[in-house]
Formats: sequence, structure tokens, C-alpha cells
Amino acid sequence: MLFLIFFALKILCKYFFIVFIAFGIIACNNGKPELTEPEPYRPGPLDMTAPPAFSPPVKESDIVIGKNINPQLSKQGEVLYNTKCKVCHKINTETLVGPGLKNITKRRSPAWIMNIILYTGMMLQNDPEARKQYEIFKVTMPALPLTNGEARSLFEFFRKNDL
Ligand code: HEC
Repeated sequence: MLFLIFFALKILCKYFFIVFIAFGIIACNNGKPELTEPEPYRPGPLDMTAPPAFSPPVKESDIVIGKNINPQLSKQGEVLYNTKCKVCHKINTETLVGPGLKNITKRRSPAWIMNIILYTGMMLQNDPEARKQYEIFKVTMPALPLTNGEARSLFEFFRKNDL
């Protein structure tokens, strides 16, 4: 009888040992999970090494600016502004998604303004002033499909707004 109890205990011990080892392995595996979390996605900063000879497509000499503001042209610009730009820009100095556009014609040249409207991506990538703005706002102004004439009308509207 005593022998039987001893025998049963021995078997139990043996299985306990196995169970113990099995738990040990699971515990170790938990400590070192085989699947590692993927790196969180972070969009990289803009390439800050601008090519030295960047020359934006619209030149100052391409733009004809009248002495007085052309009311028809500025009206056309205002309509465009209200449909395509107003969601992100205020016409005063307040920031919305992008900078307030009051005095834009005083702090930027006509060609610069035309270029940022017509060649937004190119300017944000290569123009030091545009890149500075991007660093502040951290939002990429979308490239809006506009014609030269439309961009010119927007410029006329900004001129009127800056009087
Ligand atoms: C989705 C938002 C958004 C829309 C729409 C948008 N912009 Fe912008 N714009 C920005 C942001 C943001 C900046 C600052 C530069 C950057 O971070 O991309 C900017 C910069 C500018 C600048 C330069 C301002 C400065 O002080 O240097 C001008 C000019 C400009 N936008 C004009 C326009 C015009 C005109 C339209 C409409 C045809 C327009 N934007 C539509 C977001 C927008």
C-alpha cells in the first residue's frame, strides 16, 4: 500500500516537472515575443538641401501690372479665392490652415506669389521662403490646377486687398 502511494507521488512529481518546464517555456516566450511591432510611420521632413540654381517658372518680367487695379480682374480673383482658397486662408492677418494673406503683395514679389499658386509643390520643395512657411504650418498647400490667367486674377485681388 505504502509503495503504491509512493509510486503515485513519483508520477505526479514527474508530471509536475513537465508542466513546470512547459510553463517555463511559455513564460520565456512571453518575455521575448517573436513578432515585433512595426516602426510607427513618420513622414520624413522635406529635403532641406535645395538645389542652388532653382529658378521658378514664372519670372517677374512675365507679369504685366497696371498702375491702377483692374476691377474686373480682381473681381474674378475674388470669386476664385472664395471657392478655392478661403478654406485655408483668411484675407486678413489671421492664420487658418495657412497664413493670413493680408499684405502678401507687400512681403512677396508678384512672381513669387504667381509661382506658389501655380507651382506649389515645386516651390515648397525648392524655394527657401516657401519652405520656411511649410516648417511653420506643417501642412502642404495643395497644388491647385489653375491657369496663368486665374493666378494673375488672384494676384490682382490680393493687390486690391492690400490697398
Ligand atoms: C488645404 C489648404 C490650402 C489651400 C486650399 C490653399 N492654401 Fe495657400 N497655403 C497653405 C499653407 C499651409 C501655406 C503655407 C505653406 C505650406 O505649409 O504649404 C500656404 C501658403 C500660401 C501662400 C504663401 C503665403 C506666405 O505668406 O508666404 C500663398 C500666396 C497662398 N498660399 C495662396 C493660396 C491661394 C491663392 C490659394 C487658392 C487658389 C491657396 N493658397 C489655397 C494652405 C492652403
